[in-house]
Amino acid sequence: MKRLPLFTALLGALGASAETPLKQTYADAFGVGVAVQAAQLDRAAEGELIARHFGMVVSEYQMKANVLAPREGAYDWSAADAIVAFAEANGMRVRGHALVWHQSTPDWFLEGGDPAVIRTRLETYIRDVVTRYRGRIFAWDVVNEAAGDSDGTYRENAWYRATGKDYIDWAFKAARQADPDCLLFLNDYGTERRAKLERVLAVVADLTDRGIPVDGVGHQFHLGRGQAITGIHEALDAVAKAGLVSHITELDVSAYNDPGSCYVNQTDCQPELAEAEVAGFLAEQANLYRAVFTVAQDRPSVHAVLTWGLHDGQSWLNNFPVRRSNHPLLFDRDLKPKPALQALVDPAYER
Ligand code: GLA
Repeated sequence: MKRLPLFTALLGALGASAETPLKQTYADAFGVGVAVQAAQLDRAAEGELIARHFGMVVSEYQMKANVLAPREGAYDWSAADAIVAFAEANGMRVRGHALVWHQSTPDWFLEGGDPAVIRTRLETYIRDVVTRYRGRIFAWDVVNEAAGDSDGTYRENAWYRATGKDYIDWAFKAARQADPDCLLFLNDYGTERRAKLERVLAVVADLTDRGIPVDGVGHQFHLGRGQAITGIHEALDAVAKAGLVSHITELDVSAYNDPGSCYVNQTDCQPELAEAEVAGFLAEQANLYRAVFTVAQDRPSVHAVLTWGLHDGQSWLNNFPVRRSNHPLLFDRDLKPKPALQALVDPAYER
């Protein structure tokens, strides 16, 4: 629909937004979602923006084991329940994230080191969590970041050291048993890079060959400035070829493109973007966001795209790999739509 400037100005004066909702723009192709924190849902401006533009939420950290079960059997559902309630009140779907992730595993899971005991703890935890949200969470990231970077097919994390790759099988089987209708995902980062993609595919093949129930691959797609779109096609196409669906689970586009050393020991990280450079980056970012959504739209195997946060003020990238102001999301720190949002919803947006 063509917007008259007067109409747009009027909406602006009323404090409303003139943009077509993002979820509506892509409704025929895939669900559009956003990572949220429970507290922000109570802030009216943020809650309204989330409900208006997104059809799906995922919890940024409040459905991880260290939050849900800091001690064995002592669950704290408060934040997770609030997120699910918000979604239901607004007709949105919920992605669950993440049942097993080495970085959010409380110590009690692996204590003692006996694989049989660890297995029981894991199965009990997954049964309890997945059962609580059965029929309300449509997809779970069952295992997050199981593939290796330089250490081989499997990441040699604390779970792997305790159980080998068995923990992955146990987790998927327990999740399927607790909710047979829920879609089960293996989620990982870096699938836009071929070497990592191959490792993720090797893990997937190992699971599917042995009949372990896995429905899809979650591609985090934490992208950086200058990311080539070919890596995105290749990742999505390879997963489709393996017979699974894809969700783009944690999309953001950093203003930086740091060398490996910045991640390893915080050296040679790029300096904070100067004020004068921001507009140029935002235009470049808009093109990359649009390219990713278009690639997703062209592929029937892609069923969801979620951004890892709502606005630039609340992004992990302001603190990782170093403290530095970043601009990775679709809304700015004042909740104003950025060029990237315009590029996604406005067919007349000029590159
Ligand atoms: C990984 C995890 C997410 C989140 C980000 C950083 O991508 O999958 O849950 O912790 O790191 O915010």
